[in-house]
Amino acid sequence: MRVIVETNPQAVSRRAAQFVAALVRRRPTCVLGLATGGTPLGMYAELIRLHREEGLDFSRVVSFNLDEYVGLGPNHPQSYRYFMQENLFRHINIDTRNTHVPDGRALDFEAHCAQYEKTIQEEGGIDLQVLGIGSDGHIAFNEPGSSLGSRTRLKTLTAETVRDNARFFGSEEAVPRLAITMGVGTILESRQCLLLATGQAKAQAICDTIEGPVTAQVTASALQLHRDVLAVIDEEAAHLLKRRDYYLEVEQAQARLTAAGRWHD
Ligand code: PGA
Repeated sequence: MRVIVETNPQAVSRRAAQFVAALVRRRPTCVLGLATGGTPLGMYAELIRLHREEGLDFSRVVSFNLDEYVGLGPNHPQSYRYFMQENLFRHINIDTRNTHVPDGRALDFEAHCAQYEKTIQEEGGIDLQVLGIGSDGHIAFNEPGSSLGSRTRLKTLTAETVRDNARFFGSEEAVPRLAITMGVGTILESRQCLLLATGQAKAQAICDTIEGPVTAQVTASALQLHRDVLAVIDEEAAHLLKRRDYYLEVEQAQARLTAAGRWHD
């Protein structure tokens, strides 16, 4: 896993946006896997700026979101479809028909989840999956104990996740207990992953993910099995990592190769 430690959340957002933008420029028909939550907000703001000021073109981009709360429709202000519309889609020139978010009000969840997986395949698979991380080490809503081979399905949220997300709903009681989520196995099939984390509350989960053993108790640790993961995190999220000096040396070595034209970042 490649690890980049930035000084603050703003720098994380800029770096992450540059990474996504580079892919969109290189491959205008790319398939992006998108995440919700507080962490990617700054990255979306920067992508909107790049669209407005530098003409970054999303017109042929396809997107798949990681998850959605069961029971919330697209007009519910806490639904992830609403989040994506408000924080990204309506500000850029992506074609809404090319944006996919699981339907929290599907009539047959099993069929809907299977179709979601099928649609990802039909679009050629996900080129770059953006990921936040839960304080319990989850990616998407793959809570501790989720199978590392899991596919899109329903998942019951842990008490910790319900507590973490209560800030968006006003109270814990209002947080849905079930979500549709891509599985760990689904995520591992994307060609590249971009893991973002900021703040003290993520430090333990980040340490477990990057330097701990691969375990279903920290589903993000499954990313160690993926061959192309970039983690962009801030100082606070990085502060428990033991091998920071090495991560920096890797970046410096790579920068030297890039400058010499012998590496394409
Ligand atoms: P956050 O959520 O970005 O709001 O911290 C991350 C997650 O739960 O995956």
